[in-house]
Amino acid sequence: MAAVSTVSQDILNPQLQIEGSARLNGVLQVSGAKNSALVLMTAALLCPEPVELCNVPNLTDIAGMVEILQTLGVRVQRDGDRMVLDASTLTSHEPPYQLVNSLRASFFSIGSLLGRLGHAKVPLPGGCRIGARPVVEHIRGLKSLGAHVTVEHGVVSASVPGTKKRLKGASIVLDCPSVGATETILMAAVLAEGTTTIENAAQEPEVQDLANMLVAMGADISGAGGPLITIHGVDQLHSVSSAYPVIPDRIEAGTFLIAAAITRSSLRVEPVVADHLSSVLQKLRDCGCKLDIDDLGITITPGDIQAVDITTQPFPGFPTDLQAPFMALMTTAKGTSVISEKIYENRLQHVAELQRMGASIRVEGSTAIVEGVVQLSAAPVTGSDLRASAAMVIAGLAAHGTTSVSGLKHLDRGYDRIESKLTAVGARLERNLA
Ligand code: EPZ
Repeated sequence: MAAVSTVSQDILNPQLQIEGSARLNGVLQVSGAKNSALVLMTAALLCPEPVELCNVPNLTDIAGMVEILQTLGVRVQRDGDRMVLDASTLTSHEPPYQLVNSLRASFFSIGSLLGRLGHAKVPLPGGCRIGARPVVEHIRGLKSLGAHVTVEHGVVSASVPGTKKRLKGASIVLDCPSVGATETILMAAVLAEGTTTIENAAQEPEVQDLANMLVAMGADISGAGGPLITIHGVDQLHSVSSAYPVIPDRIEAGTFLIAAAITRSSLRVEPVVADHLSSVLQKLRDCGCKLDIDDLGITITPGDIQAVDITTQPFPGFPTDLQAPFMALMTTAKGTSVISEKIYENRLQHVAELQRMGASIRVEGSTAIVEGVVQLSAAPVTGSDLRASAAMVIAGLAAHGTTSVSGLKHLDRGYDRIESKLTAVGARLERNLA
């Protein structure tokens, strides 16, 4: 009986079958940034008029965010990569527990709800496999702006005392340059009375994209993208004059450049804003890849791949979201690579899956020591989180044999049509549906 139940379990779990030793060529198209689009959608809550976005990626996380915003009374229309969000009449300030739990970015809506309505009740976002992911900085910032915040039964309740229900600008210094905390405080501060400064702010391009859209909506913000952001509160925001374009996804672009490197394929990736990936581009050069960079995109020509060391840091350092994909590349590099994960406490789970494919990796604390091998061998593997899943796809493209990758629900959260994009440049992979 056990055999039958095992078989039925496998069939229920869709997999990507990837034929290895692929040679890719052509142009890989990059979609809009997941981690920008999600927060831009929560920023629409601040505006009493419809806001239009374009270059919105087609991801399950985006669909999840649409569902959450609709429970708050936002009317959402999608047409391809365009999305119109009409938050003119909000009907609730409490996104539902189950939905927020599965989509961390929706917690950031506590900032825009508080700024617009003067109160918000948002469930704590679940920690996930890669770490505890606290929201201490987010709450500390809202309290500095004058909100009364309590946390009970897993729900964060925030309200602005007084009749005007308007937050007051404050000087805030973050303990750590948290991306979500910076974005949450930024959204709460744009309608506050007076001036807010955020020191030790996250400098990620997605923070800058949020600030740029808020400015297009009439906010008064300077310094975003640097460590000190200054916000002068305004009375109301207005719609953007034309559809606001989401920046290209730098993590998807980096994933594709690494796929080219591990398969020793010359490939073009576009669109890419090179400044959003400078630390990654440097490491690709250091390990033996030639990069031709123009305003639209990047053409990569891999050489003999040498081992290099990486340490993940807040932007502009090497992004933690590309640590797993880059480790996959280092498994077949010449020499020994030391990979240190400094952002999350538990983001080395892909090591065990890469070892299953013949990678030679030793883990000491939050550091992995990777001895390059000549070639990986195909195996059934599972992606434990979004970026680990991408790493397994990358490893499968280069391995000898056919690799089956499970855990596609993670992959579909952050990569828009990855198999059709890779197939279009010569990869041999297909999804076996449930
Ligand atoms: C954003 O998460 C991204 N997600 C993450 O991408 C990304 O890995 C992360 O930034 C870092 O770049 C979205 O934008 C939706 P953080 P966020 O708050 O905002 C610690 C992906 O794969 N911290 O900057 O949650 C925290 O524990 C995802 O696309 C505190 O200690 O990240 C973590 O170790 C994964 N206290 C580090 O900072 C706090 O109060 C980074 O967290 C808040 C955070």
